[in-house]
Amino acid sequence: MCGIVGYTGKSDALSPVLEGLRRLEYRGYDSAGIALPTQPGEKLWIEKRSGKLGNLEGVLGDAVPKSHSGIGHTRWATHGGPTDKNAHPHVDNEGKLALIHNGIIENYVELRNELEKRGHVFTSETDTESVVHLLSDARKSHNGDLAAAMRDVCKELRGSFTLLAIHSDDPERIVGARRNSPLVVGVGDGENFLASDVAAFISHTKRALELGQDEVVDITPLSITVTDLNGAVLPHNEYEISWDASAAERGGFPHFMLKEIYEQPKAVADTLIGRTHGLSEEITAGIDLKAITKVVIIACGTAYHAGMVGKYAIERWADVSVDVELASEYRYREPSIDKNTLVIPISQSGETMDTLMALRYAKSHGAKIFSVCNTNGSTIPRESDGVLYTFAGPEIAVASTKAFLTQLVAMYLFALHMGRVRGTLSPELDAQLAQEIAELPGKIEQVLETVEPLRELTRKFKDSTSMLFLGRHVGYPTALEGALKLKELAYMHAEGFAGGELKHGPIALIDEGTPVIAIMPTENSLLNEKMASNVQEVKARGAIVIAIGDADLPSATHNIRIPHTHEFLQPVLAVVPLQVIAYEMAVARGNDVDQPRNLAKSVTVE
Ligand code: M6R
Repeated sequence: MCGIVGYTGKSDALSPVLEGLRRLEYRGYDSAGIALPTQPGEKLWIEKRSGKLGNLEGVLGDAVPKSHSGIGHTRWATHGGPTDKNAHPHVDNEGKLALIHNGIIENYVELRNELEKRGHVFTSETDTESVVHLLSDARKSHNGDLAAAMRDVCKELRGSFTLLAIHSDDPERIVGARRNSPLVVGVGDGENFLASDVAAFISHTKRALELGQDEVVDITPLSITVTDLNGAVLPHNEYEISWDASAAERGGFPHFMLKEIYEQPKAVADTLIGRTHGLSEEITAGIDLKAITKVVIIACGTAYHAGMVGKYAIERWADVSVDVELASEYRYREPSIDKNTLVIPISQSGETMDTLMALRYAKSHGAKIFSVCNTNGSTIPRESDGVLYTFAGPEIAVASTKAFLTQLVAMYLFALHMGRVRGTLSPELDAQLAQEIAELPGKIEQVLETVEPLRELTRKFKDSTSMLFLGRHVGYPTALEGALKLKELAYMHAEGFAGGELKHGPIALIDEGTPVIAIMPTENSLLNEKMASNVQEVKARGAIVIAIGDADLPSATHNIRIPHTHEFLQPVLAVVPLQVIAYEMAVARGNDVDQPRNLAKSVTVE
C-alpha cells in the first residue's frame, strides 16, 4: 500500500529518498512526504503534499537542506483523507522525531485518548500519529535509545505495520520495525537503505536483507542491527536481488503497463525454464501429493482468476477436488481443513494481507501450504511449506498483467506435476501438454504482433457506459479478468459472465449497441458451439460482439484471432487482447494507466 524509504550514508539524502519514492509510487499515490535532519538537536525539515509525488517535487525547489539521512513516504489513505496534514511523515510535538507507516494500527483510538491525556497534541486524523507520540515518550524513558523505544512501542501496537523513525539528536540513525507488512534492508558501501520494496534502492545496491515478523532494525551508514522485540540480536539473512534497475523503468514505453504487456513472452518463458518436465523436490518441499485429498486455492483479484483456471487443470489432470476461495472470505467461514488438505496461496507481491491471513488460518489447522509467488523473500513464501516462484520480474503498473500470465503457467506446471506424481495423466496427454506449454511464449508473441487493429477498434467504444465479457470453462475466469482490468483502468462498468448463465438474468443488461467480448472456446471443442449460441442470444438483442478465439466466428461483429493451443491453456493467449482493450480504453478516456484512482499495488491491509 504505502511506499516507505529510508536512507543513511554519504550522499545528499534527498536524491536517494526521492528516487526511492518515485520507484515506489505505484504502492500508494494520494500524498507524499519527506523528513530530513538538518542540525543535530534541531527540528527536522519536513515537506509533505497531498496528491501525486509530482506535487511534492514541485514545491521542493533549492531550499531543501543538505542532509546525509532521511525518510520518505507515499501514502494510500486508510484513516483520514488524502490531505497535506494526513500525509506522512508525522512528527512529535517537539518536531524532532519523525515517523512513517504502512499498515493499520487497530488500537489507535485508545492510544490517542491516553496520549492526549498525557498532553500530546494531535494534528492529523491518522492512526499513525498515535505511534509517533508513543515513540517520543518511550524514547525519553530509554534515554534517547530509539531502537529500544521502538521495541517497546511495537509491543503496545495491534494491527499491521512497517514503521521507520528518525530523530534529529541522532541524525545518522534510522530505526524500522515490521509486523505483517513488508520491510527490506538494502546493504550498501558506507550507506544503507530501508524500504518496503527492493525497487527503492535497486540502482544503488543488489544486496538485501530479509526482515522477519516483529523484528526491529537499526541502521547507520556503517552498521545494521536486527533484533527481536526483546532486544535479542538476530542473524542477518542476506540475498542478492536478481533483477536490475532497468527492469523497474519504462524503457521507452509510454506506460509501465504497456511495457509489462510486451514483457509477457519473456516472463512466461522465464517461469517455464527447466520446469515443464517436473518440479524439483525443493519446490514441493516433500509435500506428499499422493496423500492430498483436497486442494484449496486462496487468492485475491487477478490472482484469484489464475486460481480459477488452476482449478480446471488440477481437477482434470491430478484427479483431486479443488476449491478456489477469495482469501478475504476464507477464514471467516471456518472451513473444514485437515492434514491432507493442500492450500495454494497465489500472490504476485507475497504480501497481500487477506491472502496471508487465510494462509495462516489454514496452516494453524494443519493444512500443507504450497504458494505461488513472484516476490523473493516476501512473507507468503516464507510462511509456506513449498513455493513455486514465478519469474515475471518487478510489476510496477497497478493492473496486473505479466504476473497473471506467469501465475497461470505456474498453475499448469503444478497441475501437471501433481498429475504425474499421482499417476492420473496418460503419457500421451502429459507429452502433449508439456509441448503445448513450452510453446506458449512464442504464441503470446504472435498475439502481441497482431493487437494494433484491436487498439483502434477499442477507441470506438470509448464512450460506452458498460462492457460485458462472456466465457465458458477456462474462458469464464478469463472473462472475469477482462472485466476486472477494464473496471480498474477505464473506471467503466464491466462484468464477466459464464456464457451459459446469461439467460438466467444478466441478459437483461444487453441493449442496442452494448459491447460484448466473447472468449470463444477452442475450435472444435465441445463448448465452442454452445458459446456460439450464447453469442447469437446477445446479438439478437442488439449487442456488438467482439469474438476472441482461434477461429473466426461468422456471427460476431468483429473477430480477434489468437493462435490455437490446448483448450485448458487458452487463457494465457486470450487474456492478452483483454489487457490491451483495458489499456487502450484507459488511455482513450484520459485515465492514469499505471496508477488508477483509489488503488494500490500491494494491498497490505485487510
Ligand atoms: O499481490 P497479489 O497477487 O496478492 O495481489 C492480489 C490483487 O490485489 C491483485 O491481483 C489486483 O487484483 C490487481 N491490481 C489486479 O490487476
